[in-house]
Amino acid sequence: MKLTKNTIFITGGTSGIGRALAEAFHQRGNKVIVAGRRRALLDEIAAANPGIDTVELDIGDAVQIKRVAQQVIAKYPALNVVINNAGIMPFDDAGGALDDEQAVRLIDTNLLGTVRTSAAFIEHLKLQPEATLINNSSVLAYVPLAATALYSATKAAVHSYTMSQRFVLRNTSVRVLEIAPPWVDTDLIHKSGDPRAMPLDAFIAEIMQKLPEASTEVLVDSAKPFRDNAGPNEHAFVDQFNQLVTDNPIPVA
Ligand SMILES: NC(=O)c1ccc[n+]([C@@H]2O[C@H](COP(=O)([O-])OP(=O)(O)OC[C@H]3O[C@@H](n4cnc5c(N)ncnc54)[C@H](OP(=O)(O)O)[C@@H]3O)[C@@H](O)[C@H]2O)c1
Repeated sequence: MKLTKNTIFITGGTSGIGRALAEAFHQRGNKVIVAGRRRALLDEIAAANPGIDTVELDIGDAVQIKRVAQQVIAKYPALNVVINNAGIMPFDDAGGALDDEQAVRLIDTNLLGTVRTSAAFIEHLKLQPEATLINNSSVLAYVPLAATALYSATKAAVHSYTMSQRFVLRNTSVRVLEIAPPWVDTDLIHKSGDPRAMPLDAFIAEIMQKLPEASTEVLVDSAKPFRDNAGPNEHAFVDQFNQLVTDNPIPVA
C-alpha cells in the first residue's frame, strides 16, 4: 500500500501499536481517524497530533460499530484504509475452569470486532480506486501460547478469516493485509521492558518499511520463525515454545 495521502480509520488507537501506527501514518501526511473507548486518551492524542480525528467506539458493540462506520464514512468520503487493531489478551486456563464472561468478551472484541468492522466499511472501501483492509493478528495465530489459549484461538481465526477476505475481494480495489506482531512491549499484558519483547518504536519502523511491498502478511524479521509452517511437526514446535515460556514466565502486573 502507499504510505501517504490515505484516509485511515484505525480501531484500538488509544494506546500501544494502534496509537503508534496512527501517529506514524499521521506524520506521513495521511488523514487518520482513531477509535477507542477511552475518551481521555482520544483527547490527548488529538491534542498531541493536530489533524488526527477521534471517535469513541466499543468494538464489542455491533450497533455502535455500524453507527460509527456510517458517521465516519459520511464525514470522510475519501476513506480508503481500515485497520482492525483493537484487541485484548487475558490469560486463561484451557485445562480448567472457564470464565464465560471473559471468553465471550474476548471473541466479541478480537474476532467479531474485526469481522463486524470489516463488514461495516467494506462496501465503501470497494468504491475507492485503491483501498486497503488491514487486520492485526499475532504470531500466536500460528503458534498458540497455552497460557492465553482462547486469545491465540481468536488470532488463528482472524488469520483464517483474513485469507478468506483476501480471496473474495481479489477482483475488487481492496487489498487485504495481515499484520502478525511478535511480542511487542505494550500494555496488552503489562509493559515490562522485558528483553524478549520488541520495543514498540522498532516494531513500527519495521512494519512501515515493509508495508509498501506487502501483499499478504506483514511480519517483522524476528516473527518469521513463528510463521514458518512446521507442518505435521508443529506439535513439537508448539510444545517447545510453551515449555520455554513456562520456564521463563511473562511478567504480569
Ligand atoms: N503487544 C503485543 O505483543 C502484540 C502481539 C501480537 C498482536 N498484538 C495485537 O495488537 C493489537 C494492539 O495491541 P497492543 O499491544 O497495542 O495493546 P494495547 O496497548 O493494550 O492496545 C489495545 C487497544 O485495543 C483497544 N480496545 C480493547 N478493547 C476494546 C473495545 N472493546 N473496544 C474498542 N477498543 C478496544 C484499546 O482501546 P480502549 O481501551 O481505549 O478501548 C487499545 O487502544 C491487539 O489486537 C493485539 O492482540 C499485540
